Amino acid sequence: MRIRSETPAISPIGHDTPRVDGSKKVTGTAQYTSDFHFPGMLYAVPVEATIAYGRVIKLDTAAAEKMPGVRVIFHRENIGKIFRSVQEPGFEGICEERRPPFEDDVVRYYGQYIALAVADTFETAKAAADAVRATYAKEKPNVETDLQADDEPDAVATTFGSQERLQSQRGDAEGAFESAPVKLDQTYVTPTEAHNPLELHATTAIWEGSTLTLYESSQGVVNLRGVLAQMFGLPKENVRVISKFVGSGFGSKLWPWTQCPLAAAAARQLGKPVRLVVSRKMMFQSVGHRPRTQQRVRLGATRDGKLVSLQHDYVYQRSMLDAHHEDCGEATPFQYSVPNLRVTFGRAKRNIGAGADMRGPGRVPGLYATESAMNELADLLKIDPVRLRILNEPKIDESLGVPFSSRHLLECFELGAEKFGWSKRTPEVGSMRCDGLVLGWGMAGSSWVAARFAAEASLQLRDDGTARIACATQDIGTGTYTILAQLASQKTGVPLDKVEVDLGDSSLPAGPISGGSMATGSVVPAVFAAADSAIASLRTIATTTPGSPFEKRKPDELSFDGGLIFVKADGAAKGVPFADLLRRANLRLVTGSGKSEATFGNPKPKFSTHSFGCHFVEVTWQAEIARLRVSRVVTVIDAGRIINPLAARNQIEGAVVMGIGMALFEHTSYDRQSGAPINSNLADYIVAVNADAPPIDVHFLDFPDKEINELGARGIGEIGLAGVAAGITAAVYHATGIRVRELPVQIGNLLV
Ligand code: MOS
Repeated sequence: MRIRSETPAISPIGHDTPRVDGSKKVTGTAQYTSDFHFPGMLYAVPVEATIAYGRVIKLDTAAAEKMPGVRVIFHRENIGKIFRSVQEPGFEGICEERRPPFEDDVVRYYGQYIALAVADTFETAKAAADAVRATYAKEKPNVETDLQADDEPDAVATTFGSQERLQSQRGDAEGAFESAPVKLDQTYVTPTEAHNPLELHATTAIWEGSTLTLYESSQGVVNLRGVLAQMFGLPKENVRVISKFVGSGFGSKLWPWTQCPLAAAAARQLGKPVRLVVSRKMMFQSVGHRPRTQQRVRLGATRDGKLVSLQHDYVYQRSMLDAHHEDCGEATPFQYSVPNLRVTFGRAKRNIGAGADMRGPGRVPGLYATESAMNELADLLKIDPVRLRILNEPKIDESLGVPFSSRHLLECFELGAEKFGWSKRTPEVGSMRCDGLVLGWGMAGSSWVAARFAAEASLQLRDDGTARIACATQDIGTGTYTILAQLASQKTGVPLDKVEVDLGDSSLPAGPISGGSMATGSVVPAVFAAADSAIASLRTIATTTPGSPFEKRKPDELSFDGGLIFVKADGAAKGVPFADLLRRANLRLVTGSGKSEATFGNPKPKFSTHSFGCHFVEVTWQAEIARLRVSRVVTVIDAGRIINPLAARNQIEGAVVMGIGMALFEHTSYDRQSGAPINSNLADYIVAVNADAPPIDVHFLDFPDKEINELGARGIGEIGLAGVAAGITAAVYHATGIRVRELPVQIGNLLV
């Protein structure tokens, strides 16, 4: 019998763990969608509409078709059947642009695909696409930025939210506002923002008979498989989606977009693999965006700062085609204690591409508005903004009437204020200076929903002492490979470097979308159940294998810990490595399967489950050269147990940088005549870059939330973005005395 000689490994959970896939990424061996090559593969380039509203009367493809190397110019007449898809139970069948490509001749937004050039090379396909001439019956597009809710009933099914205009109500919000001693009534605007993941959206479609394989840059291979199965009238088993590495998505890759069925339809017609890579310019129209919002917030309060009324009435821009609901009012009913509340929403249809989830959908623009209003109210009342929030901290979720599973927002404020040095703040505008610069200090609170999606996983223990964990979720750059390895290692005692992680393939046990910051929290119970099931098999093998040291024992007399099987009463010191047992039984491996149910969408939860956080922000302002910089951020996050602090910090830092972009730079503008997005490139659409990133001091509280899973891990990502912009605009006001209520803050706003 072999006794484990090394000291017991510390639990990999909760320790800084470098990416297990890091070496693959830095050596270039990690394969992204466009890295896969296939014999005979053809290249497709869409032809984009150059009007934003109207009809295609005629397509002249003759010149394009004559080009050497061009295979086909596809359009409505020759692309073949593509069905619509519907949402299915179990959070499947979701796609934002419900009209399949080429379904009719109506153009509803600038850049809508109206034809597809397929050729032997990408360059030829691009030249052919450029050579297609379209004649249109043109109508005046509506890309108006002032948003008034459309009158039509909101009959469209939404993915996430309520269909009612009245989203939440309690007490008499209007009456209480009217009689409140202190009132604030302001409207906040957030612009259209484009997801700009580094990796372009891309599809490679391959047919073998009636089986379709898609290499796709996706945040949800299982959903994508289901949607494509519907679109091509296939059983799900006939569709396989592979997405091994994803150069991020920020929500734009959650649900399939039209390039995917187009590539699949072209491949079907031609009997060859077809690759379609969406261009950066196309990504500003055809793969979703964060919709523009206009949010009126009315706060009524007593003179000592107790909220008596909160009204949040918001309108968001939507396309002619999508079902996206931008749920800005999601957090409003429970973020603060207030007896009288009303939240309503409306939509304004525009000739733009479909809206979609973008990192922190709904809550990020929503909390920008409500947290900004809280900061303005604090200034009005001459109360410290932290103090105002403490005064209005709720005891329970007042909208659901149930307790929070774990809410430590006040501890976030306390730690954040201490780390930032908030007590040194002097509230008068422009009163703080350092090295000749005016300092502005602002803060805001944050929250993000926590729940689980359904998940399945399988775990193998093998006779060489290695393990394999498999789950059809994806790693979109956030560290999911590493998390799964940590979870498997924790349960099996197999060291991290001996755990093989297989994900990003819809043929694996069904896993969650990489969305809603819920992938980690969702996979914990499924992976643990899979490990328990594999270990149960081991115990049976240990007691039934001739020559096993446990041959005469019963399975329930045995324990498993740190990779060793042992008799409970004897302790782990007399344990046998599982690999030894498998070899003795002449087994290469044992496999366990695990499954966990969704908690997301439960209409009657016992607890209200959310993550919380706060940001303290410093800006510097040099009036003489109109230079504004975010110079320092302290962020505190209450997200339950943190499984990998290294990856979690990385997520929050990235989110804060994105928040700087949201506050100061990001916005898509549409040309009022043509309807085209006019800054559809990375030279004109500005995102925050390293040079804009200040020192970011991230702290995590450690309050495990056992309502989510047995580790108490709620998940990380979007929580780091919510609230940042409100903290920055408050700091800008503190430095300059100028209130900017329409993002982004532009230097022109400050030159008064
Ligand atoms: Mo996130 S918008 O759920 O990718």
